Amino acid sequence: MEENIKRTTDPNEIDFRKKFELTDKVIVLTGACGLIGRAFSEAVCQFGGTVVAADIEAANPEKFAEALSQRHGRPMLGVSIDVGQKASVEALKNAVLEKYGRIDGLVNGHQNKTQSFFEPFEVYGESNWDAVVETNLKGTFLTCQVIGTWMSENGGGNIVNIPSTYSVVAPNQNLYKGTKLGCPAAYSASKGGVDALSRYLASYWAVKKVRVNMITPHGVWNNHEAQFEENFARFSPMERLSYNHEVAGALIYLLSDASTYTTGDNMLVEGGWTVW
Ligand SMILES: NC(=O)c1ccc[n+]([C@@H]2O[C@H](COP(=O)([O-])OP(=O)(O)OC[C@H]3O[C@@H](n4cnc5c(N)ncnc54)[C@H](O)[C@@H]3O)[C@@H](O)[C@H]2O)c1
Repeated sequence: MEENIKRTTDPNEIDFRKKFELTDKVIVLTGACGLIGRAFSEAVCQFGGTVVAADIEAANPEKFAEALSQRHGRPMLGVSIDVGQKASVEALKNAVLEKYGRIDGLVNGHQNKTQSFFEPFEVYGESNWDAVVETNLKGTFLTCQVIGTWMSENGGGNIVNIPSTYSVVAPNQNLYKGTKLGCPAAYSASKGGVDALSRYLASYWAVKKVRVNMITPHGVWNNHEAQFEENFARFSPMERLSYNHEVAGALIYLLSDASTYTTGDNMLVEGGWTVW
């Protein structure tokens, strides 16, 4: 729920620093225990927000939320979920409303990397395809449907979805030469769906004060093999991978009142990867 927008032409009436604060805002983050989710969670806490860490049971979001609560001296919530199951997402919404009575932000940072994620396209298994699409795209549909609908009926809110550089451009296959890595078509296709869904919802819910934006990270460093890092540097204008904490500034902007006139945007935090 956003503050009432001040009708003025005088910038002296505006506290610009305060616009970035997330104090009293309850933010649900899926995939909160992941590489980027951890940076998102910490940043939200540091800007005064309350984090609801939603992740699969194996990631132990309850323990993760407990550590955040200790560090920031405020009660955060951890909930085990599967974003691909509607009942699970409904249970998440109910748990948040029971504890805090409000939901101001939803950040979809989950992704499914199946065991055979890097299978070549020619033999990519249907069950593999279904699992990636079910988590990445259907999971985002379900959280938007369940939590976004609540927001639309309760004064508004902010949704931030995470597509990928590979829903903006195709992967440069040379990036993976000499490495065990790759990017399956199922990933690109599922993320293309997230992109289209986000734009759809941005227009659909604009009058209900639900803003829907995206962040596109790229090449976030996670102890990659040296060859990959070398290849990446060759194709990146900035000649380096990014770090998870570098993605979080965009999130604070999009979740806060600093971005009250931004919706349907895809903020590229990709070091200029798609600029040339
Ligand atoms: N890391 C990158 O370089 C990069 C680049 C572009 C886009 N992205 C996107 O950013 C997001 C976060 O990436 P990351 O690198 O932190 O990924 P990650 O794999 O480290 O984290 C993903 C999290 O999602 C959780 N998850 C998996 N299945 C789930 C389910 N069914 N329900 C709920 N949670 C589930 C996992 O347990 C994990 O904690 C992903 O959507 C990813 O596609 C990442």
